[in-house]
Amino acid sequence: MTTLTKVSVPIQAARRAPQPATQQRNDRIRVAVLGCGQIADAHLSQLQRIRCADVVGVCDAHEDLAYQAAARFGVSQYTHLDALLSEARPDVVHIATPAHTHAQLAMQLLQAGCHVYVEKPFTLDVHEADAVLRVASETGLQVCVGHDQLFDPMWLRARRMVEAGAIGKVRHVESILGYPLDGKFGALVANDPNHWVRRLPGGLFQNTISHPLYRITDFLADEEPVLVGNWLRRGDFDFPTELHMALEGAEVSGSLTFSTRIPPQRITQIYGSTGTLWIDFDGQVIRRMARPRMPGAFAKLEMPLRHFTESCGNLTRNLWRFACGEIHYFAGMKNLFEAFYQSILTGSAPPVPVAEMRRVTSLMDQLFAHCRAQEKGGRA
Ligand SMILES: NC(=O)c1ccc[n+]([C@@H]2O[C@H](COP(=O)([O-])OP(=O)(O)OC[C@H]3O[C@@H](n4cnc5c(N)ncnc54)[C@H](O)[C@@H]3O)[C@@H](O)[C@H]2O)c1
Repeated sequence: MTTLTKVSVPIQAARRAPQPATQQRNDRIRVAVLGCGQIADAHLSQLQRIRCADVVGVCDAHEDLAYQAAARFGVSQYTHLDALLSEARPDVVHIATPAHTHAQLAMQLLQAGCHVYVEKPFTLDVHEADAVLRVASETGLQVCVGHDQLFDPMWLRARRMVEAGAIGKVRHVESILGYPLDGKFGALVANDPNHWVRRLPGGLFQNTISHPLYRITDFLADEEPVLVGNWLRRGDFDFPTELHMALEGAEVSGSLTFSTRIPPQRITQIYGSTGTLWIDFDGQVIRRMARPRMPGAFAKLEMPLRHFTESCGNLTRNLWRFACGEIHYFAGMKNLFEAFYQSILTGSAPPVPVAEMRRVTSLMDQLFAHCRAQEKGGRA
């Protein structure tokens, strides 16, 4: 049996920018969404924006949730996966269920002949990831993990800027996720001691840090970068709430901060040899910092003028996107869905390479092991 631990496709090179899905009549994709909890509405509303996708059903083990999602989006509802598969006959199923169910459901769906889109985190650990990828390889079907922020318009623009040499060679990537525990998602976990997130091996972090982590690994070529990390408990919570991680690759390093003590935010800074890009997903803003060209006191005028000009550009761009109805919190999701369907329709490489799904899962395993060891040693 082939193992999927080594994949020869270069991780960065294989990721494709989204392309418009083909609109031929027979190039349509039948899509079902499994799990009608918090993130399901984002899937269903982004799916409405994709012209080649027909949503053929939603399914949740909880009847009321299936009923309500189906009613909101005018689609068929199911409470059993077998019925969804036999009656709705989806080509692709989006798995939007709790993380500990992803691997088993993905394998079941692949064996039933469906391509699968798996919400992040891909699986609970790398052993599960390998099992899923093995079944995908055996069945010849495609798997895509929900690394949607890589397809957000801001990230795609930042990548184009980096590729055009805007900051020289990338040296370091810093990713921040602010996730207050009185926020929309955090409060559910904080207030329910039996919430499934609390039972994940990496707890709260396992459900959240894939996003800031893959924003770092997108620029880090090493299969096995050196990694250190620790987690901390703050406030009255009986689980760790803060996390810090450092990654060291041959050419590029990275650092990740997850905090429940700062406002919600998704920020990444890419430091290059000649400048820095600051990417704010929530504000949909990119700023480029570079050393001033003017000497002495003139530099103090040059820098704010540069920032002013750049802000005018960002405002104009966002006004235009707003007027065109193109500003969506989950715009990256729509782009990723489209790229995934395109890869299914054309039989081309999936938008998130198999090697990357595995690498991010493996790095998270290592990180949590490191954090647990630190905590045990009393140093965290
Ligand atoms: N991409 C993002 O930004 C983003 C944001 C939030 C959540 N997520 C991810 O989406 C996934 C779901 O998170 P959520 O917050 O929506 O969870 P949730 O608990 O709100 O909803 C999960 C739903 O799945 C259903 N379910 C569980 N097992 C099932 C099964 N075997 N068959 C059918 N239905 C089943 C539950 O009844 C529940 O309604 C997680 O992996 C999470 O990390 C992604």
